[in-house]
Amino acid sequence: MTLSIDCLWIAGVFSDNKLSMHPQKYFIKTFGCQMNEADSERMSVILAEQSMTPVAEPEDADIIIINGCSVREKAVHKAVSALGKYNVIKKKSEGNGPIIGVGGCVGQLDRENLFKRAPYLDFVFGTDTIDNLPEIIHRVRSGERKVIYAEFDKSMDYSTETKVDPGKSQAFVNIMKGCDKYCTYCIVPFTRGREKSRKIDEVLEDIVKLVSRGVKEITLLGQNVNSFGKGNENTAKRLPLELNNPIGKVGPKEGEENFAQLLRAIDSDVRLANLKRIRFTSSHPLDFSDELIDCYAEANKGGVAKLAKHLHLPVQSGSNAVLQKMGRHHQIESYIDQMSRLRSLCPDIGLSTDMIVGFPTETEDDFQESLKLLDLLQFDNVYAFAYSPRPGTRASKLKDDVSLKEKTERLNRLLDHQLAIAQKRYAARVGDKMEILVEGLAKNQYMLDKGDRDAKGLSSGLIKTTTKRVWTGRTTCNRIVNFATESPRNLMGQFVTAEITLATGLALQGEWLADRVIEGQNQ
Ligand code: SAM
Ligand code: SF4
Ligand code: F3S
Repeated sequence: MTLSIDCLWIAGVFSDNKLSMHPQKYFIKTFGCQMNEADSERMSVILAEQSMTPVAEPEDADIIIINGCSVREKAVHKAVSALGKYNVIKKKSEGNGPIIGVGGCVGQLDRENLFKRAPYLDFVFGTDTIDNLPEIIHRVRSGERKVIYAEFDKSMDYSTETKVDPGKSQAFVNIMKGCDKYCTYCIVPFTRGREKSRKIDEVLEDIVKLVSRGVKEITLLGQNVNSFGKGNENTAKRLPLELNNPIGKVGPKEGEENFAQLLRAIDSDVRLANLKRIRFTSSHPLDFSDELIDCYAEANKGGVAKLAKHLHLPVQSGSNAVLQKMGRHHQIESYIDQMSRLRSLCPDIGLSTDMIVGFPTETEDDFQESLKLLDLLQFDNVYAFAYSPRPGTRASKLKDDVSLKEKTERLNRLLDHQLAIAQKRYAARVGDKMEILVEGLAKNQYMLDKGDRDAKGLSSGLIKTTTKRVWTGRTTCNRIVNFATESPRNLMGQFVTAEITLATGLALQGEWLADRVIEGQNQ
């Protein structure tokens, strides 16, 4: 293979103006949500395209990248402390150490201030400049100091091609970026910019390529995917032409593309026969239209067959007073209505949500409303957070009047409350046969078993067993299932059926129904 001079340069052959014969090795540390995860994968593929190789430990890297999250103060602290740790590696190497960069939401928001905080930092980039990474690294390697690429892309068009590691059966597909909701507590509109959507035809082409490389499950990504399509003319006249949103008319209008059209277009595209599941995240109740709810119906009743039976719809609080101060523009009654309609169309659906506790002015009564909502809606999973004021947001101007102690207590109470709900829901699954898309070998190579029972029939607790290989995967309802098998076959990326034998905390355990590998079947 012949490499161009430019490519050789980037591959580090002439790095530091010396002839160093090793190719450049990179290490990426990711914090934050699935959007940052997808961005890190994109960075990795872009660097690999430049003949660089990933390494598992920062000590082995020539380039260290922190893809940081700013959503809460704690997340920023994590990125800053990682930076300090990596600087120790740099210092130890006495001039031959790695170059270090910060990207993601932290890079976008803190920009040049990061150089003041960490003068040893070599480069900063933002959420819209990931594709410039090779150029940024080239400039640092040419001797430039403090290189920064953190401007937002100001154009209203959004066009991209998904880049994922080869050989994967699952892929994140960005369909839109930014957020126009400006919830009063949230930093994301400042780190991800204004909302803009890709065109449906472009997304379809993209997914066709992914599926031809073996992808079986996609997760459509955006901060608020159900306002997808705003501003894009519906030239193909796809249905539904307009969304009926009982809460308020926001998001795409008549004559524009919308998210329900996208789901139906993916589901019915004959080129995508090998795509088995469509997931999406995240959504906002305000744009959660009737037409989107209808997509969850049985396929023979007009639903979208490949749509996973799972929905993550963040609610944030059970109290209308708090929701109003959060600028969520919906009331708890309408959220409950949406969930009831969904459950009536799709009784098995797995529901999850986000909750914030300790928002300014939240009283014990408001908090109780949140607990009541959990009882009523019986989520499988709740991601709960203590409110953290973010600079520049409207809520940061309110008095942060719930003490840290109270926030922590409420958070723990809410998590305990939800754990009891989830455990009951998971236990009810024992005996079910479930289809799982296998994601890989489980981190813990053991199974849990009910211990011995005493004379009163009480279990001595869960014990670890098995010498078999333990695999992990997810059901259509997004439940994690671990199962053990003696089979030497590589089950990664396969749909298999397991019988659930035990519910453990927030996961299920099952027995693989041997040799019942179901290919080409969704349910
Ligand atoms: N776009 C999604 C949505 O609307 O829910 C996700 C937003 S954010 C990346 C993920 C979650 O972080 C939010 O749903 C919210 O619960 C939480 N969050 C955002 N800002 C926060 C803050 N200032 N303090 C605590 N939690 C926060
Ligand atoms: Fe943040 Fe609200 Fe946008 Fe979600 S919808 S990203 S919580 S501003
Ligand atoms: Fe964090 Fe940015 Fe996601 S702030 S939660 S990484 S969009």
